[in-house]
Amino acid sequence: MTKPLQNRRVLLVIGGGIAAYKALDLIRRLRERGAQVRPLLTAGAQEFVTPLAAAALAGERAHTDLFDRAEEADIGHIKLARDADAIVVAPATASLMARMATGEASDLAATVLLATTLPILIAPAMNVRMWQHPATRRNLATLRGDGVRVVGPNDGAMAEAEFGPGRLAEPAEIADALEAMLAEASQPEGGFGFLAGRVAAGVLAGRRVLVTSGPTHEPIDPVRYLANRSSGRQGHAIAAAAATAGAHVTLVSGPVAIQDPAGVRVVRVETAREMLAAVEAALPADLAIFAAAVGDWRPVAARDSKIKKDGAEPAPLRLVENPDLLATIARRTEGRPALVVGFAAETDAVLQHARDKIARKGCDWLVANDVSPEGGVMGGTANTVHLLGRDGSVETWPRLDKDEVGRRLVERFAALLPR
Ligand code: CTP
Repeated sequence: MTKPLQNRRVLLVIGGGIAAYKALDLIRRLRERGAQVRPLLTAGAQEFVTPLAAAALAGERAHTDLFDRAEEADIGHIKLARDADAIVVAPATASLMARMATGEASDLAATVLLATTLPILIAPAMNVRMWQHPATRRNLATLRGDGVRVVGPNDGAMAEAEFGPGRLAEPAEIADALEAMLAEASQPEGGFGFLAGRVAAGVLAGRRVLVTSGPTHEPIDPVRYLANRSSGRQGHAIAAAAATAGAHVTLVSGPVAIQDPAGVRVVRVETAREMLAAVEAALPADLAIFAAAVGDWRPVAARDSKIKKDGAEPAPLRLVENPDLLATIARRTEGRPALVVGFAAETDAVLQHARDKIARKGCDWLVANDVSPEGGVMGGTANTVHLLGRDGSVETWPRLDKDEVGRRLVERFAALLPR
């Protein structure tokens, strides 16, 4: 059987952070999948791992210096920038991202990244505060706009005993994202109707887009609530892609731990009823995408004081159904957005349930995903979606990073909007 990355040539740029040690494992994973890996270490990376270790695992020499006489005669930075199928930057530090975003060619890694036209995948890793700093958010938005793919970072405990987003994506996740990027780069033009991961700037210029995202919290009493595992990643990625495409975007988000996307108006809500009110207030819109995992039920009445155990059976929790935002908006006769898109979170019989749902809700398109726990979709960074049309059409997309799913959806719906 051919391996997924058979004969693919990858230039792996290793940035200088504590996560650099994981880049060594990444080299092994990429080679297991058939790739040829050429390592390039920044000066910072060499504080954490040695060029020798990278070279030994890659079975290729490791590149380190911009002005290396032997190297310039031999391969040179321009050749390094061309002589591969893709570039992976892992870990992508805040500093490396900043240099990429501003086009600063101050060392070999940054020069190669500036000189290349290859598809680039970055796997950021840094302290949570550095990741959340507006400067890094800006650089990230710039890089995304330039067509750079991003995988991770993941949430988790960090080296500095802090917790939050900033951990390097796992080597297997990075390898998956690389596979997806390469698969797409080899699609004949028009395959998915978009170019190398870049949302065509301006395809939604002048359009109003509404996106719901995240979970809802339905209060039980002052200290408890009902919620679900949605991270908001998919909805936020769609909003970010729509903003890059030039739309005026309102993102109505339930409580999430992720950053607001750049260039988007964010309305924060807690409950399903608040979310519905915010959605109605945000209309009119040309395109409305309902990616939130809205709680289907809420306690009949939230108590004003903490409920005490009194041994009563059954437990004192009575639920009523929440309004259905998607169906409410899709069934509007006046002021209905031209395109209404729902999501379906299913754990079994995904397509069958999705077909029922598109009819039941009255939306134009439905993005169905399998959220059974094995897939790691809920709360994770990747997604495998099926796109169903009201006409009965079904497309199954490969497993993709949620950012990429967001970009593809935006491209797709932008093309479908009436002029
Ligand atoms: N949705 C909504 N309002 C709700 C429930 C769901 O707007 N109260 C939207 C979601 O944002 C999503 C779609 O409806 O776009 C489907 O959500 P899903 O949870 O898959 O479906 P449910 O309507 O909850 O149906 P079921 O519980 O039967 O799967």
